[in-house]
Amino acid sequence: MPTSTAPGKVYLFGEHAVVYGEPAIPCAVERRATVSVEERADDRVVVEAADLTLDGFTVTFDGSTADADPELDVPTRLVQSATGYVEEAVAQARAAAEAPEAGFELTIESEIPLGAGLGSSAAVAVAAIDAATRALGVTLSREEIAEYAYQTERAVQDGGASRADTFCSAMGGAVRVEGSETQRLDTPPLPFVVGFDGGAGDTGKLVAGVSALQERHGFAADTVQAIGDVVRSGERLLADASPEAEPSPDLLKGLGELMDFDHGLLSALGVSARSLDAMVWAARDAGAHGAKLTGAGGGGCIVALDPTGETARALRYAPDCVDAFRAELATEGVVRT
Ligand code: PMV
Repeated sequence: MPTSTAPGKVYLFGEHAVVYGEPAIPCAVERRATVSVEERADDRVVVEAADLTLDGFTVTFDGSTADADPELDVPTRLVQSATGYVEEAVAQARAAAEAPEAGFELTIESEIPLGAGLGSSAAVAVAAIDAATRALGVTLSREEIAEYAYQTERAVQDGGASRADTFCSAMGGAVRVEGSETQRLDTPPLPFVVGFDGGAGDTGKLVAGVSALQERHGFAADTVQAIGDVVRSGERLLADASPEAEPSPDLLKGLGELMDFDHGLLSALGVSARSLDAMVWAARDAGAHGAKLTGAGGGGCIVALDPTGETARALRYAPDCVDAFRAELATEGVVRT
C-alpha cells in the first residue's frame, strides 16, 4: 500500500503578502502528515483519519457529501475544511493519473494541528496526491506534486492561495516563493520554537479580510508591500550566512527583529488574535530573538527564534498556550515509505 509523509511548515516571513505577489520564506518543520492509499474496486473514496488534530476523528465521504462522525470532539467546521482538502487532492490525483473514476481508501495520520498555521492542509494534500497517484501506478516528481497540491489549495480557498505552503511541504527545507517563482534556499539550521493556543483560524476568511481591507484603504496595500520589504531584508541576512554553520547571534538578532516587525504588520492587517499576541509577548519576555504568528492567523500557532530552552519553557506556563515545542527544520519534503 503506497504510503507518503509530508512535513508541515512555519513562516519565517511573508504570509498573507505572498497571496498578492510579495515574496515569502516558509520553512518545513519535522511535524508530518502520513497518508496511506489503497485503490478500491468501485469509485468511492473512504477516508479514515486518526489524529488529524490533537483529538482525531473519522470521516467517510462519497462525492460531495461529507458525513462527520457524530462523536467528534473537533469543531465541525474544521472537519469539513479538512475533508474539502482531501476530496480536492483526490480529484487532482485522479486527473494526474488520468483515472477519473478511481476509488480509494485513504488513511491519514497527522502530527500537525488542523488550521493552526503549520500547513496541515498542504501536508495532507501533498502526501495524499503522492500516495494516490502511486496507487494508480504513476510516480510524480516533487515539483509536479507541489503543483497539484497548489491547485488543491486554490480550489478549496476560492483562488486565495499561494504556492508557499504546498511547495515547501513537497520540497522540504526553507524555500522562497514569489508568485509562480519557487526555489529552495540554503539556510543555517534555525532554532524555531512553536507555541500553540489550541485553536485555529479560517484561512479563506482571513485571506478575504486582508483583501477587503486593501480595497478600502491604500495604507493596507502599503502594509502588504511593507511585509514584502521585511522579507527582502530577511533574504539578504540569510544570503550572507553560511548554511553549514550554526546561526550566529547577529543573524538571529537580525532575523528576530524582522519577525517582530512582520508580526506588527500582520496585526495591523487584522489577522492576529489576543492569544497569539499573548504568546508572542511571552516568547519575547523569555528572551526569544523575535516572535510572530505563523500562517493565516486568527488563532493557532506562533513561531519564535531561540536556541535555548527558555522560550519553550515560558510558553508552557503561558495561560494562552496549550503546547510548545522545538520545531526542527525538515530537510526532506515528501517521503515515500
Ligand atoms: O494557515 P496556513 O498554514 O494555511 O497558511 C496560510 C498562508 C496564507 O499566506 C495566509 C495563505 C496562502 O495560501 O499563502
